[in-house]
Amino acid sequence: MKNRQHWSSRYVFLLAAIGSAVGLGNIWKFPYIVGEHGGGAFILVYLLCITLVGIPVLIAEVFIGKTAQANPVAAFTNLAIQVKASRFWVIFGYLGVLTGFLILSFYSVVAGWSLEYLSVFLQNSLLGFDAKAIEDHFLSVLASAPTLLLWHSIFMVLTVIIVGRGIKSGIEKMVGIAMPLLFIILIILVIYATQLDSFAQTLHYFLDPDFSKLNTQAVLIALGHAFFTLSLGMGAMMIYGSYLQKNTPIVRLSFGIAIMDTLVALLSGLAIFPLIFAHHLEPSSGPSLLFISLPNALLALPFGQFFGIAFFFLLLIAAISSAVSILEPVVAYLVQKTQYSRGKIVSMVGAIIWLIGIGVLLSFNHWSEVKILGNNIFDSLDYLTANILLPLGGLGIALFATWILDKNPKTSIGMVGIPHKIWWLATAFLAPVAIITIAYNGLI
Ligand code: PFF
Repeated sequence: MKNRQHWSSRYVFLLAAIGSAVGLGNIWKFPYIVGEHGGGAFILVYLLCITLVGIPVLIAEVFIGKTAQANPVAAFTNLAIQVKASRFWVIFGYLGVLTGFLILSFYSVVAGWSLEYLSVFLQNSLLGFDAKAIEDHFLSVLASAPTLLLWHSIFMVLTVIIVGRGIKSGIEKMVGIAMPLLFIILIILVIYATQLDSFAQTLHYFLDPDFSKLNTQAVLIALGHAFFTLSLGMGAMMIYGSYLQKNTPIVRLSFGIAIMDTLVALLSGLAIFPLIFAHHLEPSSGPSLLFISLPNALLALPFGQFFGIAFFFLLLIAAISSAVSILEPVVAYLVQKTQYSRGKIVSMVGAIIWLIGIGVLLSFNHWSEVKILGNNIFDSLDYLTANILLPLGGLGIALFATWILDKNPKTSIGMVGIPHKIWWLATAFLAPVAIITIAYNGLI
């Protein structure tokens, strides 16, 4: 462990972890699931899930990584041996590695759409198109496997290059530039949206909850999204935590990550919905909200091209800083396991994920008839990872951190008094009960 790399500072860890958390989940997925589930009421449930389940599990995940100073598989293995617990816990390490492969394969395809739209807005090639033509453009992108493949490949190569350079010269350098830029662009976009008359309508939509659209399925989606957006349950936060010095206090850092992530999700909503409402478009149009409704709205507004470029660039930065954190635990595990160089492992893993991604992008065109339990490959992977695998991984992490590690004086979390009690109750009882009940009802 002596030669293990560490972050240059806590601040850099914070940037990288916020970079992981803030991604397509915040800017693409959050607004459209809010739109699909009726606005304010859904946001309320989501905020509850973040506070009662997300933050406690986030603390648990960073804690496990920091204590183990190792990748997720080695972390569960070594710590279980150290505290004489069952070796069974390592299942959650392997589950995380598998989930990483699956998530990145579809994440990269969606990130590719943001590259396509960045290129569209740079060339201003949708100028003069009416609503129907803008919709047709997105449908033609989805229908064209070579176009999807091109952007998916470029995105995977970028991700592989950054992860291949390692923690300090890859991830640290990238987030040092990307995250401040992301915040600046987002704030400019929100200020722009506040100038529209429809901004007030957006505030209404967020603040007046319509509980009639809430059902158990919506609650499951809110919970799954809390895991997805905080990058929980697959070892991403664990591996980032493992690059912290062993004596770093983590509670405040974890709150910082969750608060910034939630802020970006809400601000993205405040930037996007006023544009949608200004053009009387449907907020509930689903995954195509950003790629059909938003371009439609942008093109009709002053400086639409400029804000379109800013928006899709923002989406790209957010996606890359998350993608590297999905790849890192998988790579860290395989480097340690096989003793191959980082470069070799990153290329091999990148190639496998790229291949799975081809299956995903074909599900929009040639393989659209291939169904898994009634859904196409893309929807199935999204649903399986966010609503089943991540909560399951989070369950393992929460139970292991509290009942196994923290119970043992040698590996306790080092919190005391009331904060410790609250964290313990939330992580050992509340989160597991919530995950099991919601998953059970949602799946039935
Ligand atoms: N948190 C990222 C987002 O909201 O887009 C997605 C993600 C990153 C999920 C890392 C899981 C993960 F381990």
